[in-house]
Amino acid sequence: MSDKKRIVLSSDHAAIDMRQAIAKHIEAQGYEAVDIGPTSPESTHYPAHGAAAAEKVASGDCDLGIILCGTGQGIMMAANKVKGIRCGVCSETFSAAMIRQHNNANILSIGARVVGEGLALEIVDAFLGAEFEGGRHGTRVEMIDALEG
Ligand code: RB5
Repeated sequence: MSDKKRIVLSSDHAAIDMRQAIAKHIEAQGYEAVDIGPTSPESTHYPAHGAAAAEKVASGDCDLGIILCGTGQGIMMAANKVKGIRCGVCSETFSAAMIRQHNNANILSIGARVVGEGLALEIVDAFLGAEFEGGRHGTRVEMIDALEG
C-alpha cells in the first residue's frame, strides 16, 4: 500500500477548474489526490459535496481534505456538520497554516470566487505544509470536539 498522504478534494460547480488545478498541484508534490468531483459544470448542491468529502476524512479513508465552492462558506458549513471534522475557510496563507497548527483542522475550504488560482495554490501549500502543535492547543481542540456530543 502507498504511503502517500491521501487528500480528498470536492467542490460544487463554482470551483471545478480550481479544484482540478489543486489536484494536479498536490499530485506533483507527492500527495495522492482523491478527487471526488463533480466534473460536470451543471449547477449542483454544495452540502452534498461537502458531506461526501467530510465522510472520507472522518472515516479515515483520507488523511485531509480540500473543498471549494463560490465563497468556500457553504461547503465548509456542511463539512463541519460531520462528526470529527474541523474545517476552516481561508483566503490567505497565515490562517491556512494556523488552522493546522492550532486548530488541527482536517479540511481546508477555499472560495473560488474569492481568491485567484495562484493564491489558492499558496493557501493549499500553507495548509498541507503545517503540522498540529498539540499541547495547550490539544486541550482546546478536545473542547471543540466535545461540543459534538
Ligand atoms: C453557488 O452559486 C454558491 O452559492 C456556492 O458556490 C457557494 O458560494 C455557497 O456558499
